[in-house]
Formats: sequence, C-alpha cells, structure tokens
Amino acid sequence: MSLVTTKEMFEKAYNGGYAIGAFNVDNVDIMQGVIAAAVKTRSPVIIAISGGALKYMHPAYARHAALAAAEECDIPIALHLDHGKSVDLCKQCVDNGFTSVMIDASAYDFETNIAMTREVVEYAHARGVVVEGELGAIAGIEDDVVVDDKYGSFTHPDDAVEFVRRTGIDSLAIAIGTAHGAYKFKPGQKPQLRFDILQEISAKLPEFPIVLHGASSVPRDRLDTFNRYGGQLPDAIGIPEEMLRQAASMSVCKINVGSDIRICYFGEIRKMCALKPNKFEGREYLEPARTAVEEMVTYKIEKVFGSAGKA
Ligand code: 13P
Repeated sequence: MSLVTTKEMFEKAYNGGYAIGAFNVDNVDIMQGVIAAAVKTRSPVIIAISGGALKYMHPAYARHAALAAAEECDIPIALHLDHGKSVDLCKQCVDNGFTSVMIDASAYDFETNIAMTREVVEYAHARGVVVEGELGAIAGIEDDVVVDDKYGSFTHPDDAVEFVRRTGIDSLAIAIGTAHGAYKFKPGQKPQLRFDILQEISAKLPEFPIVLHGASSVPRDRLDTFNRYGGQLPDAIGIPEEMLRQAASMSVCKINVGSDIRICYFGEIRKMCALKPNKFEGREYLEPARTAVEEMVTYKIEKVFGSAGKA
C-alpha cells in the first residue's frame, strides 16, 4: 500500500464516532513500535513528525521509513508534519512525500494565521496533500490567565467557522484545555476540558474533523517506571482516558500523542540501563523500549480511541 492522506480516515472516524491516533515519532525505532501496534489492531494510523524530529531524523530518512512501513503493511498510514511553524517548512514536507501537513500559525494574529494557512492550503491541495490548521492557545488551563469572557483563551466557535471557511483547511486543532507535555494540570487541580466549546464548534461546523493536541494521558505505571529509574516528572498529570473517549465519540477525529511515547520509550531504556549495566548491545536496551511503545499504542487504539479493526 502507499501512504494515504487523512481524508478517508477522518470521514470514517467522524461517522463511526472514533478517533485516529497521531503518534509523534523521533526515530525509526519508535515508528516501528507504532506501526506494529496499528498492524496488530488493524487500525489506520498517523505518523506525526515535528519540525525538530524532522531535523533529527532527516527528511529523506523519515520519508523512506514511512514508505517502508506502507509497503510492508496493508493498513492506511498517513505521514504528517506536526506543528509546521513556517509556510516554507510545510511546502518542503509537501514536496518531500508527506501526505498531510499542519501549519501552526496560532501564535500570530487572526489575519496572519489565516493568510499563512491559506498559502499552505493552496500549495498542498494542488499536490494532493491535506492541511491541518490551529486556532486558539493550546497551553489552555496551564496558563494563569483569568478572563471574564466565557471562551477565554480557548477557541471561539465563531472564529473557528470563519477560519475554516477562509482557509479551506481539512481539519482544525482547537484549544479546549489540553496542553502539550507531561503536566497538563497543576498538582491538585481537577482535570477538565471544555466539552461545551467542542460541542458548539461541532454544531457550527457539521462533519468537519477536529483535532486534539496535548492529549497524552500519562499512564501511571509507565510514569512510575520512568521516575523510578532517574526520571524527573514526579507530579505529571495527563488527560483522563474517559475524556479522550468522550472527545473521540464527538467530532474529534485525530488525537495527538507524544509525551506518552517519550515516557514509555525512555522509561524503558532507563530501566534496562539500570538493570543490565554491563550489556553493551544497543538492542538489549532498545528492543524492550520499542515493545513498550507498541504495547502503549495498542492499548490506546483498542481501549481509548476506538479505531481497532477500522483499517
Ligand atoms: P502530548 O504532549 O500530550 O503528547 O501532545 C503531543 C502533541 O499534541 C503533539 O502535537
């Protein structure tokens, strides 16, 4: 099979009330763990590569690794640029075989965000590539911002409608209280997401795929391993799985996971280095780490996102 765009996977996910996982990979090892889980569960999957990861992996290696996965497997696989910070980077990825790119101009004012996003959409669509845009501050609840406005720094539903209409994007990342990294909420703070805003956006944008960033759930057992062997994330709190299930049953078609992968992968490497200090075959450390990624992604697909068997 060749790499696919997210168009068909999102249509099916929207209608079926489930979501597709977009898993951040930093190397081929992690990519193989993610793909193994998707193959085992018969799930479509999105391989997400950030600008930093792209630099680390090198675009040609990233592309060919994803192409190898698509060639070896009979499940739909999309290769996606995560948080493209410039129009140029998005264009480079379109030219380099990515089937989906995200232009993240959310730090700019509304009009600049629209102009940059529109430029990427025109370039990408002419070459058969889909585009994700972002509107709102995804740091959300982590910010100490007190505002009277009901929407605060979250995505305003009317802005979302205008943004989608004027840019022509294929999916939209919104801010409803998730945050990137292992600390989504402050210690003691009750996790909450603004499902009311998601509901309003969905009502105003029927059948339009919404994307949830910052959606790692920080599984307790994996975090404990990470911390026991020298990790320093004592009070990390993720998004409760129940909330992710709810989002997936609504209009959220893509859920991004990066921190959970890092906690799993590097937690296992730390553990193996501590337990087997005299080994010097890299595979002794890396294989269990890859397996940990595979297990965690399998769990997400089967028990949280609901995309198992949808390939
Ligand atoms: P997490 O940090 O919650 O894994 O979010 C990753 C993400 O949204 C990448 O775009």
